[in-house]
Amino acid sequence: MLFQRPINIALSALALSFSFASSAQAADYPSRPITLVVPFAAGGPTDVVARSLGAELGKILKQPIVVENRTGAGGTVAANYVANAAPDGYTYFIHHNGMATATALYPALKYDPLKSFEYVGEVIDVPMTLLARKDFPANNMAEFITYAKANADKINLANAGPGAVSQLCGSLLQQALGVKFTTIPYQGTGPAMSALLGGQVDVLCDQTTQTIPHIQAGNVKFYGVTTLNRISKLPDAPTLNEQGLKDFEVKVWHGIYAPKGTPAADIAIFNKALKAALKSPDFTAKMADLGAEIVSEDRQTPESLKKWVQSEINKWTPILKAEGINVN
Ligand code: MLT
Repeated sequence: MLFQRPINIALSALALSFSFASSAQAADYPSRPITLVVPFAAGGPTDVVARSLGAELGKILKQPIVVENRTGAGGTVAANYVANAAPDGYTYFIHHNGMATATALYPALKYDPLKSFEYVGEVIDVPMTLLARKDFPANNMAEFITYAKANADKINLANAGPGAVSQLCGSLLQQALGVKFTTIPYQGTGPAMSALLGGQVDVLCDQTTQTIPHIQAGNVKFYGVTTLNRISKLPDAPTLNEQGLKDFEVKVWHGIYAPKGTPAADIAIFNKALKAALKSPDFTAKMADLGAEIVSEDRQTPESLKKWVQSEINKWTPILKAEGINVN
């Protein structure tokens, strides 16, 4: 008993100094530019969201948000980088479905999606679209199906590698049609889209956040959207589901993460800024124009995002393993 008191006093003093330290850090946080790591190439759909969101976050947090593209291995190079970055509140990470599919696709993954990160919150849902180069022979989905079945060995399908949603969508498409195309992987669908526009590849499945301007300008052949229901931005565009690929669905979701150990006070400040950014008129208008939907407020929390990633890991791991979707 006698010995317990000094220990208690020492512990209380320690706790007090910790709480001073963390509130002191939160009080002037952020005091320098913040890095937002993007796992795919500049100019692509994830980059478009990161830069638009970064501009809003920068205004709210009164510090520049510096977007850093770290490409490779379907997003796992960037995820591994962030998992090992200093947990000082100055590195964040935006990633999509790849956060949940990587464990099944990369057996030797060096990070754990559920244990190596602090979770910040979900951002947006984005539909995908199926496109071909402008002079591709098929003019609509029915023609695409017929042509693809007869000429699969002649068709080049671009994607951003295993772990990318373009790869997931392309794999599900080949499975649904019972065909095998030749796959050409890029560091992101930004360069994959340039290759499609240049006629170097034939087909690409990609997010509306990149494809809508090209669809509207008539730069590509457009066969349909990958959501189960039509989307309000392209109300006349049929879904693949209603054009013979029954139950075909790929929807992209994006979340924000930080290295494990990032102070909770900093995450709370960043999350508050994220929620404000997701309401900002400039960001919401831009995302609506690109067919993306900002997630509801209850999904903009660390707890909700973590639950979602866990449920997506549970959903996709058996599917990807059973189908062997770990190769192009
Ligand atoms: C990108 O930003 O380049 C895409 O999200 C990559 C992908 O298809 O997942």
